[in-house]
Amino acid sequence: MKKILFVCLGNICRSPLGHGIMESIAEEHNFPLIVDSAGTSAYHVGEAPDKRSIQVAFDHHIDISSQKSRKVEIADFHKFDFILAMDRQNLANLYDMEPKHSPAQIHLLREFDPDKDSLDVPDPYYGGINGFINCYEMIDRSCRFFFSEKILEK
Ligand code: 4NP
Repeated sequence: MKKILFVCLGNICRSPLGHGIMESIAEEHNFPLIVDSAGTSAYHVGEAPDKRSIQVAFDHHIDISSQKSRKVEIADFHKFDFILAMDRQNLANLYDMEPKHSPAQIHLLREFDPDKDSLDVPDPYYGGINGFINCYEMIDRSCRFFFSEKILEK
């Protein structure tokens, strides 16, 4: 079974959305997939996702409220087939941690956004709900394209 890890900074805003959205896409296709998310910082370890991410996901009938923030660990580079970073800063953080001969394929999620104006899913933490809605839309587009290109066709 393919395994996908979504990564942002705090693992409370963007990567929990990637986690929930990709699980829901796999369910739509009745396709078995292992999905998880983590942060490159430990700022929010043990916390549930940000209320605004929970709300935006809920508006799309996706429940992410039981997720818990954790930090990326070395074992993740051996366990996951794909590690998808939300922005270039977190991609750089992942490359700094990556062990030699890691089998994981590390990408920016928005490499797979068919409608991209940037390679980053911008950090919505200090903004309002519209930033979270914007994140949801770019993560959803990217996940659907990634799923069809990298998962379904294999
Ligand atoms: P995330 O958002 O990386 O999408 O989970 C953030 C959450 C918290 C902080 C920054 C970004 N923070 O600085 O506490």
